[in-house]
This record gives sequence, structure tokens and C-alpha cells, in this order.
Amino acid sequence: MTMKPGDSARLVPPHGGNLVNGYVQGKEAKSLREQAKGLLTIPLNPRQLSDAHMIAQGAFSPLQGFMGREDYSSVVKHMHLANGLPWPLPVTLAVNSPQVSGLKEGAQIALADGGGEVVGVLSLEERFRRDMEKEALQVYRTTEDKHPGVANLYQDGDTLLGGKVTLFQERPPLEEGCSPHYRTPAENREAISLLGWRTVVGFQTRNPVHRAHEYIQKCALEVVDGLLLHPLVGETKGDDIPAPVRMRCYQALLEGYYPPRRVLLTVLPAFMRYAGPREAILHALVRKNYGCTHFIVGRDHAGVGNYYGPYDAQHIFQEFDPKALGIAPIFFENSFYCRSCQGMATEKTCPHDASHRVSLSGTQVRAMLARGEMPPEEFTRPEVAKILMETVPVH
Ligand code: ADX
Repeated sequence: MTMKPGDSARLVPPHGGNLVNGYVQGKEAKSLREQAKGLLTIPLNPRQLSDAHMIAQGAFSPLQGFMGREDYSSVVKHMHLANGLPWPLPVTLAVNSPQVSGLKEGAQIALADGGGEVVGVLSLEERFRRDMEKEALQVYRTTEDKHPGVANLYQDGDTLLGGKVTLFQERPPLEEGCSPHYRTPAENREAISLLGWRTVVGFQTRNPVHRAHEYIQKCALEVVDGLLLHPLVGETKGDDIPAPVRMRCYQALLEGYYPPRRVLLTVLPAFMRYAGPREAILHALVRKNYGCTHFIVGRDHAGVGNYYGPYDAQHIFQEFDPKALGIAPIFFENSFYCRSCQGMATEKTCPHDASHRVSLSGTQVRAMLARGEMPPEEFTRPEVAKILMETVPVH
């Protein structure tokens, strides 16, 4: 049964009960901008700016700012905020200590983007040190800097600034093709309620949608009202396909193969942490804030290299109280095209062995594209493959 259009009160409640709004506009924005002129300014790297916007737009509700000491330790150790709410990953502003040596708790700090333009203000509540290796081991399960998330962690400083974030920059900077699909969680909820969906499955992706993704999305769509195709468009590692190319792929796929009234395409301005299981929980909570009731977790969700087992990101859900999470995961096994079944399948539904399957890794696909070879139709829809062929440089 679907909702009456506009019946937003019936949507799933945000994490912690209320959607945060850390943006100021109009007169308030003008006066904060003036005030920021006299403050010490901290330049944010693209990941920190992305986090600031995720906080301000309510995607990280109930967080109102970068984490203080108590939340930080509790999250790193127990995957819950100090108040007991599930939260799997630290959201912190890390700087080098000399940068902030004179700063007192209670001070206001201006936050600037990479170009030096001030975008908002942090009300400094706490300044504290972190043990980077300990954080890496607990959060990423490794201290190796070959892991891209750990490399980022080590690159940022060891001093954390906790406190509320207020932004007057209206929205995060977005790459080409992303702006028309930008919605805040509140706007996304509105869109869901206008479509009249009662149940919505969220799909996280950092890749062009290939046949396995399409299969698991459509299996889920058979039992819920709508799909939020929610590509992450913040920073990803260098060899992932850039967001502007992916946006073209998503559109081509949606035009050819999905019923328009059953899909919302919205961009998620977060960056990839590659934290595997813990990031799967974060991804689910964020999608709840965007109004999803369900969330897809497939094989090696948010994984990288061999740091996590293929189903660790599913097993971790057992460590949480489902009610406290408030969004239902839908798990899928490794999906592939089976030549004998003549369709997409998993080991749950197909009796044939691996020799019947078309399965390609990301590395194999990148190598094919670089050689100017079209990936097979059983792996990627031709419309998507064509865009990838046009945009990936041939060696
Ligand atoms: S991720 O880093 O965003 O997880 P990707 O965009 O490849 O990477 O995956 C998006 C979602 O699809 C994740 O839930 C992932 O587990 C799932 N997935 C990707 N490929 C497969 C596959 N072949 N079989 C089952 N699930 C998959």
C-alpha cells in the first residue's frame, strides 16, 4: 500500500528523531559571514568540507558538528554515540596541533574551502588528541597505509576539533552532472512523499551501475515501493570512475531500463572511507535520514583490496539492535550472469558452476576499457559500456 502524495509524516523518522539543519540563510548568513572575517580560519580539505556539509544538511543527523572526545571514543570503541545511539565511524575535524595552538575551547573558528573562501563557522567545544594507529586498527581493522581510508586518516592531523558547525555556503561543491540531482535529506523526503512511496530501498554505489547492481536493485524493487539510487559523489580513490561519467551512465540506464515513477536519482555528497563493514552501517543510517526504510548490502560493501571478508559488511548488522538502527538491511550474495540459466543469478538460485558465469572485477573492466574493448553485454548494459568507452582514455 502506498501513501497519499504529500503525506510526509508517515516517513521513517530520522536517526535520533530530528533532521539537523546547520545552514543559515539571508540576514543570518550575512551577519555570520561578517563575523567570520575576524576569526582564525582553518582550511578544510575536500573530505572535511564534505563532512561539514553532510552535517549541515542533516545527512549525518543527529550530529550537529564534528565529534567531541566522548562521542569519538565511544564510536571508535563501541560503534555507538555516547548517548547510546548506533554510529559506526568517527566524524572528526583533524588538524595539526601547531595550527591551533593558541585556540581556546569556546572560540569561534572560520572554516574555509580549498580555495580559501570562508564557508561557515565552527563553535569550538573541545580540542583533543587522538591515537591515529589505534583509530585505524579499530575502525579499519588495519594500520596499513596501503588502505586508502587509513592513508587519509594518517594524512590528517592528530588534533581533533569538536563542535557545532554552521554553514552559509548553501550546498556542497558538486562535479559536472551532479547538481540537477542534488537534494538535501529534507528535500528527498519531500520527493518520496510526493511519489507516495511507503517503503523505499536505498542503494549506495561508487561505480557505474552494472548488471549485478541492477539485478539486486530490481529484486529489492519487487517488494518495496521505490528505489533511491544514491550514488556517492564525494572523493573516491584515484582509479574509481569519476562522478560526472557515472552520472551519465546512471541516466542512460534509468532511461532504458527502469520505470520512472519507481526510482529517484539523488547524489550523496559524501566521500568514500572504504571502511567496509562499519561504513555499511553508516551508509544505512544516512539513507534512513534521506527517508529510506530499507538498504541494500551486497558483496564486499564499501570494501577495498582484501581487507574485509566478502560478507563482513552483512555480518556486522548482527552487532546492532535492529530497532535502534531503524532501517532494514536487505542482503544479497555475489550476483553474476549465468550463461546456462540465461539470466542474472546468485548461488542461491543457480545450480551451475563458476565456468558458466560472466563475472568481471573492476580491474578487469578497467583493463578492457583501456584496451578499447567493449565489456560484454552480460556484464554491463551496452548504453553504459558505450559511455565508459567514450570517456576512459585508451592506452
Ligand atoms: S561500494 O563501495 O559502493 O559498496 P559498489 O558501487 O560496487 O561499491 O557496490 C554497490 C553495492 O552493490 C554494494 O552494496 C555492494 O555490496 C553491492 N555489489 C556490488 N557488486 C556486487 C555483486 N556482483 N554481487 C552482489 N552485490 C554486489
